[in-house]
Amino acid sequence: MSQSSGSQFKDRVLSGMQPTGNLHLGNYLGAMLNWVKMQDTHETLYCVVDLHAITQPVSVWGGPDILRKSIRDVTAAYIAAGINPKKSILFNQSRVHEHAELTWVFNCVARLGWLDRMTQFKEKAGKDKERASVGLYDYPVLMAADILIYHATHVPVGEDQKQHLELCRDIAIKFNNDFGIEFFPITEPVIMGPATRVMSLRDGTKKMSKSDPSDLSRINLTDSPDDIARKIRKAKTDADGLPSEAKGLEGRPEAENLVGIYAALEGISAAEVLKQFGGGQFSSFKTALGDLAVTKLSPITAEMNKLLADQAYIEGVLTDGAARAQAIAAPIMQDVKKIVGFL
Ligand code: TYM
Repeated sequence: MSQSSGSQFKDRVLSGMQPTGNLHLGNYLGAMLNWVKMQDTHETLYCVVDLHAITQPVSVWGGPDILRKSIRDVTAAYIAAGINPKKSILFNQSRVHEHAELTWVFNCVARLGWLDRMTQFKEKAGKDKERASVGLYDYPVLMAADILIYHATHVPVGEDQKQHLELCRDIAIKFNNDFGIEFFPITEPVIMGPATRVMSLRDGTKKMSKSDPSDLSRINLTDSPDDIARKIRKAKTDADGLPSEAKGLEGRPEAENLVGIYAALEGISAAEVLKQFGGGQFSSFKTALGDLAVTKLSPITAEMNKLLADQAYIEGVLTDGAARAQAIAAPIMQDVKKIVGFL
């Protein structure tokens, strides 16, 4: 059995993002900021989940040339945002075949009833569920395999991934029970900070997302300073000014969202933001928020563009990351095969 099997699991972090469309402020504040911090306290693996990307129709992820470009773009975004490829293992999922192999075993552990409850499948499949890919339905099982193939114990994500991580725990528990062995850890979701659910700038009741047809609804990590300032200036707000205490944000989703974004970017609490801006008008708060967002995001965009000019470097990072990831995944997959009874 591999070293990390047994009841004592080593603290290990795994998380990932899909290479579809541009990364946006929600990805950055909800997940990546925590990824960067966890590099100092944990062993960390971060992947670009290209196998997940193709669960959507080709028209959504754009076909092979765009997919290759998106994988490189997201890799560059990780590094530009502060993921250090020497400290963390940074790789793309499809290069480590053990993810797909473990998914098959987990397909035989997970129950249809569990997947039927997944709200993200319902949202993504829309009304015409019969036309969704089988891969889209199986998406959370692949996600469980991404995590458990490394015996990861902690998974930093935004709020929207909570249900998928509960499924990951259910799969680990059922596998362990079915085979009478404490083999997979029961993973902890890490959902932390003031912006675990960043909302659309056009509608405070909808999540900021890559798939929203309106580009004004989100701030992309590749937006220019002018675009960032303009999108924040145009962000929807209500008729009242800013309250001086956090409880005054209740029932005001747009105001709450903008205050949460400011807090996360500045690394302070919503209460502290309101101490500074409470009682004032949205127009001056929006100017300050626009300036802060540009200060924090522009260096990331500039670094991303610099990194993308050196494709050989990006390629080197992914090749090295995949080899290091596989060195952990392969013995765990071997153990799974023994446990299941494959010869
Ligand atoms: P993806 O690419 O949809 O999202 C990547 C990360 O960004 C977070 N996020 C948000 N956080 C706050 N506010 C938002 N509006 C917002 N939008 C997105 C997501 O919660 C996520 O953390 N299924 C995963 C990818 C994945 C994965 C994994 C994650 C595949 N395998 C294994 C962890 C572990 C996803 O949501 O990707």
